[in-house]
Amino acid sequence: MNKVVIPYKPQPRQKVFHQVEADEILYGGAAGGGKSEATIFDTLKYAMQYPGSRQIIFRRTYPDLQRSIIARTLQVFPKELGKYNSSKHEWKFLNGSIIELAYWDNDANYMNYQGAEYDVIRWEELTQFEEKWYKYMLSRLRGSKPYPRSVKSTTNPGGIGHTWVKKRFVSIGQPEVVHNIPETDDDGNPLFWPEGTPQAGEPIIRSRIFIPANVHDNQALVQSDPGYLARLLALPDIERKQLLEGDWDVFAGQYFSEFTRSIHVVEPFDIPREWKRYRALDEGYTDPFVCLWIALAPDGTAYLYRELSQTKLLTSQQVEAVKLNSPVSERYEYNVADTSFWNKAKTENITPAEIFAQKDVPLIQAKKERVNGWKRLREWLHVKTELDHVTGKTYKTAKLKIFSTCIKAIEAIPAMMHDEKKVEDVAAHSLDHIPDALRYWVMSQPTPAKGDSAWSATPDESTRKNFDDEDENEFEIESFW
Ligand SMILES: Nc1ncnc2c1ncn2[C@@H]1O[C@H](COP(=O)(O)OP(=O)(O)O)[C@@H](O)[C@H]1O
Ligand SMILES: [Mg+2]
Repeated sequence: MNKVVIPYKPQPRQKVFHQVEADEILYGGAAGGGKSEATIFDTLKYAMQYPGSRQIIFRRTYPDLQRSIIARTLQVFPKELGKYNSSKHEWKFLNGSIIELAYWDNDANYMNYQGAEYDVIRWEELTQFEEKWYKYMLSRLRGSKPYPRSVKSTTNPGGIGHTWVKKRFVSIGQPEVVHNIPETDDDGNPLFWPEGTPQAGEPIIRSRIFIPANVHDNQALVQSDPGYLARLLALPDIERKQLLEGDWDVFAGQYFSEFTRSIHVVEPFDIPREWKRYRALDEGYTDPFVCLWIALAPDGTAYLYRELSQTKLLTSQQVEAVKLNSPVSERYEYNVADTSFWNKAKTENITPAEIFAQKDVPLIQAKKERVNGWKRLREWLHVKTELDHVTGKTYKTAKLKIFSTCIKAIEAIPAMMHDEKKVEDVAAHSLDHIPDALRYWVMSQPTPAKGDSAWSATPDESTRKNFDDEDENEFEIESFW
């Protein structure tokens, strides 16, 4: 018999994922816990154990699929066992088993799976998908062979699906325990087995289990790249809790939880002439029109030093108000504004942006991606500890500070809440116009330098180390399953 070496030695939490039996399994939590690696080898294990079985692994987009699953399976699946067909995106093994590698990026995708049957369906980064897609695919879990069928997913907290995934797996009770849960429709009513099935009339009950992932589960990573943990630790509060601690509760409540008066609010001072100045504007009539004045110190700290927020101003009055509050001695690098300044009012044939330009306040259009913008703003508000070289003491500070005279901004920022439907976004709020304008300004600025930011802390799938070079991880096919 040929000896085939599977280049993988599961760590304890990964073993739980391989061995547990339930209809729906979620391995979720910290980034770098070894979830994707476990999925890949779990798929291989199943394919070998159940000849002629069919599985599918979903990622949200093709580039994600290519970079992670396709690349990794090509690297680690022994070629003696099967072959990858790159036009069909599937692995076919000598024993007849098939693994499809797929992506699901839009609603029309249902059609691709109408007649399909799978023994195991796998979702990678489950919170990136919509619940209705997940539920639809549950109905594709069937087949003629007497094999154990399940949906096995992995994810980090956060993303558009955070709320439904948390409800479906995390809030059902103790982790690492199988729970039997009645299936419900979208309104929460229990579903029953239909006529013609053996259990007709009985409630549909499925077993679910949540296996939490922690970075420390993955000693291989912690030891081979100690800097990884340091990069996660340096992340802003929420992202650190989400990616390092795998915390599912961070998206409840206050959005800018780092906001601290004693750190972010400063008494006004005379801003040196040579500092760069900017204005950021948000459109409004019934909602307030907002203009913010921001100065950037040479050390990169930004100061919101003046605010204007007023309802019921016509465009011409808005320009006048802006100019009235802008001393002639001040020069501005640019004025960044909501794109709605470029919309013509029905009765006018000129845009507000043109009116501003005619009055010597030329505007540039803001980048409006919300989630990115909020994340960027959070990065400016991130509280960091620094050393005072004169006194030798440490102190806390942030890159964005607000003059105590900007009372509306100081009220608005801590009032922002997470949107329950889209947890990484800010929920609509009557005070959100000032944060919106601040967001336009941070989005108009270059991305903060790498050293300051830890956005790249998620392990880069393309830089994974190649197990093939590691003798100690090699063992015979029989010993893994
Ligand atoms: N059992 C293991 N032995 C050695 N290295 C592993 C193991 N499991 C995962 N890794 C490595 O740890 C890193 C993070 O694993 P990954 O599965 O991508 O984590 P996650 O999907 O939880 O973010 C990758 O480089 C991966 O190859
Ligand atoms: Mg992963």
